[in-house]
Amino acid sequence: MTDAALETRQGFDVRPLSDLMAAEVIGLDLSQPFDKETRDAVYRAFLEYQVLAFRGQKLTKDEQVAFTEQFGTLERHAARNRGTATHPLVHTVSNLNAEAKPSGTVSSTRWHTDKSFRPAPSMATVLHAITLPPDGGDTVFANMYAAYEALSESEKSEIDGVGVIHSWELSRDNIGRVISEEEKRDAPPMTHPLARVHPDTGRKCLFMGMHASHLDNVPMAAGRARIEALEAHATQPQLLYRHHWQEGDVLMWDNRCLLHHADTNFDAARYPRVLHRTCLRGTPTG
Ligand SMILES: [Fe+2]
Repeated sequence: MTDAALETRQGFDVRPLSDLMAAEVIGLDLSQPFDKETRDAVYRAFLEYQVLAFRGQKLTKDEQVAFTEQFGTLERHAARNRGTATHPLVHTVSNLNAEAKPSGTVSSTRWHTDKSFRPAPSMATVLHAITLPPDGGDTVFANMYAAYEALSESEKSEIDGVGVIHSWELSRDNIGRVISEEEKRDAPPMTHPLARVHPDTGRKCLFMGMHASHLDNVPMAAGRARIEALEAHATQPQLLYRHHWQEGDVLMWDNRCLLHHADTNFDAARYPRVLHRTCLRGTPTG
């Protein structure tokens, strides 16, 4: 995209990062609380662009929590991913091993939407870059509004009203990990509409990703095949935005209408990539 227009709003500037979604927000210091007008203007931009990139920030964990809480209630993390004792609601996303050295492994590389296996899946994720590799380590987003809207009318009517079962157990099984009984109790399988209505915009979008296991009242194999085909449709290049991280970025995205994944396009055995994550709880999808 060229010639992106800079638009001034309530004390900050917004510049689109692609034709489809995402915008950078310039001129706000996230370490300070917003007044109500600024908070509301940021939230409107968030609904409009789905991904906001706040540039040039340097937040402590406490400041990140305070920023995030202006938009809702913080989500606890999966039993295995709890943060540290002092900051249980801030999860560190990193490729470092127990010796704090780059491990060569990057997590969250498959398409997903955060906490989709919860009864009230996440509304938004806030991710703050702490240490970045010299290049790459992108986060890629797929727009599920656009994916739904690109379906034919017969495909839309075929999936409207269909439930999809999201399972933490199955999604871990798919990456070769057997979860504990505690984790199973913590995150039992949950049914959500495959075509969900966004609670704030009223627009329809697909809701699936790697935690989506199978379809309600559809034979297992057929349901899985349908989900795979829909994911292939929803992640075509023209429906994506690739975020190239800059030092100081705070990214805030809408989990209700996007899929995302981390790209392995950097040398994860050589360079650290560390980010701090907070999540906001959403509302039931039904
Ligand atoms: Fe994620």
